[in-house]
Amino acid sequence: MSQKELKLGAVGTGGIWGAHATNLAAIGGNKVVAVCDVSDDNRKKWSEKLGAKGYSDIEALFAGEPELDGVIACTPPTVRLQVVEAAAKRGVPVLVEKPPAFKLADAAAINRIVEKTGAKVGVGFMYRYFASVARLKELIGDQPINMVQSSFFCPGATDWKLPGWFYIKERSGGHVLDQAIHVMDLVRYIAGDITQVYTVGTNLIVPKTKDFTIEDSTSTTMKFATGASGTHIHSWSHSQFTGFITVVGKEYRLTLELDNKVSGFVNKNTQVNETFPAQPQGCSHHYEEMKTFLEALRSKDFSKIRSPYVDASRSLATVLAMNESIETGKPVEVPQKV
Ligand SMILES: NC(=O)c1ccc[n+]([C@@H]2O[C@H](COP(=O)([O-])OP(=O)(O)OC[C@H]3O[C@@H](n4cnc5c(N)ncnc54)[C@H](O)[C@@H]3O)[C@@H](O)[C@H]2O)c1
Repeated sequence: MSQKELKLGAVGTGGIWGAHATNLAAIGGNKVVAVCDVSDDNRKKWSEKLGAKGYSDIEALFAGEPELDGVIACTPPTVRLQVVEAAAKRGVPVLVEKPPAFKLADAAAINRIVEKTGAKVGVGFMYRYFASVARLKELIGDQPINMVQSSFFCPGATDWKLPGWFYIKERSGGHVLDQAIHVMDLVRYIAGDITQVYTVGTNLIVPKTKDFTIEDSTSTTMKFATGASGTHIHSWSHSQFTGFITVVGKEYRLTLELDNKVSGFVNKNTQVNETFPAQPQGCSHHYEEMKTFLEALRSKDFSKIRSPYVDASRSLATVLAMNESIETGKPVEVPQKV
């Protein structure tokens, strides 16, 4: 594999970019040569910190940097199609943060670009790269999954630390689009596609106001293409940051505790209680996802990207159906092709 230093670009240099920048520095063998942000403060901060050229326009970044090996896009969810269009025109692979888009129409447009041009677009669903997830899948093997029960809690709404746009449903899609998508994507990765959802949203702890138009908690019932059923509960009004996925079959019950534990039993009563190493000290849990993206850039083999855009767009379809269900009060079918 080539050992040349990869030339990278970053689009959107806010909160999550900081974690990716740390991981990139720890992995090594790469240089962020250009950053693009509409915020003067963030652009200046990161171009100075990384010795990178600063751009305020996405198209200008790609036009001005013809030698980019890859781009990492960490913009809000409404800014995806512009990045992919500009990158595909030049054959530059992109890792875009989740969610894959804000609207299904944008995701469908990106899928058409991918199908037409062969553009390489991965989505930042980092849980797919966890050793604990690989182990869970290995323990289940080809045994049928009968039921899935997942949950995810954090104080996202109660400690009010996120940029304001996260709390406006029309801009972020709420915790369903922003965070439940991680879990639904992982549930899909483990148990297959979800075909129908019914979601109830509540605001018992943080009432809606003009600056807070999202639900603070939701409960979802889901049906899978395999015939399995499941539930997911999610809250941004809980003091602990935790996530669990329990998968139940005829002779096993396994719980994945995010990030790194698998416990329960297999073969009717063989106990499982395993913990997996975390990312290197000081790095974030996106480390393995980034390492895989850089390896793909080097080898030009993108088969190890675990969340290619077309597949990820079905996770988007799932959570958009959940948000539609909250609005209509009815079960919603999840489109299986985006
Ligand atoms: N995978 C994860 O664990 C994880 C964690 C946090 C956030 N995210 C995702 O990352 C994305 C960014 O989140 P964040 O918390 O960093 O948000 P943020 O608001 O802190 O940062 C977004 C940045 O994008 C810039 N931006 C907006 N429009 C732009 C445009 N047209 N061109 C260039 N720059 C533009 C903003 O100025 C800002 O600096 C979101 O989609 C979010 O869901 C993922």
